[in-house]
Amino acid sequence: MTGLVVAIDGPSGTGKSTISRRLAAELGLAYLDTGAMYRVSTWWCLHRGIDLTDSGAVAEAVQRIPMQIGTDPAEPTFAVDGHDVAGEIRSTRISTAVSAVATNLAVRAELQRRQREAIAAELTAGSFSGGRGVIAEGRDITTVVAPRAPVRILLLADEQARLERRARELHGTADAGALDATRDQVVRRDADDSTVSNFSTAADGVVTVDTSALTLEQAVDTVRAVIVAARTELAGTQETL
Ligand code: DC
Repeated sequence: MTGLVVAIDGPSGTGKSTISRRLAAELGLAYLDTGAMYRVSTWWCLHRGIDLTDSGAVAEAVQRIPMQIGTDPAEPTFAVDGHDVAGEIRSTRISTAVSAVATNLAVRAELQRRQREAIAAELTAGSFSGGRGVIAEGRDITTVVAPRAPVRILLLADEQARLERRARELHGTADAGALDATRDQVVRRDADDSTVSNFSTAADGVVTVDTSALTLEQAVDTVRAVIVAARTELAGTQETL
């Protein structure tokens, strides 16, 4: 059987990254965190003192960014020119600024191109997965980056559930103060990001999984079942071709 591409989209707080990473490790697939590529690009622009509202300058900088993204789900790595930025790209400074870069259409075109390249690389023997394939997650993977992926999933969850999860992740609690402190990172950012990609309704052929009422384990089980069913079906198709 040839390699498998699994595309997973959804807003923040749906469990997308955790679920994708866990299942990639379990199924022997690579893991591509495309949101991290927007974060690394933002870090790079700020590091170089570029005004993020100058869309031409931002686009030009991103065209030439020497970004290295490691796709091992056990230890994803993020570096620019050999400098590890894994910690810095999760800072509030980057989380607050990243939408300005992610809504730049020239930046999107460049990062989408690199994402397709990274996905294609995982279908070859010399890659991390040895050709077994990749789980790529983001906001526009099912629709723009890999619309023909054999497995495409949209993860959704209601706003309250997403806010509570992010608050617990960032502040260790989901009390009123933590919810307020998290709101900008979840609600405002999704509103900004949704101006350039639709990740709140499923495109044709995309399976929706609503994780609002699911524990992480239940969400992992549900997504695993979708992937395994598609993989079995694909294997069957290839045998009869
Ligand atoms: O998933 P995340 O929070 O790491 O994403 C960082 C930012 O990048 C967020 O503003 C959404 C945006 N993004 C995007 O526009 N397209 C993607 N495929 C992935 C992320």
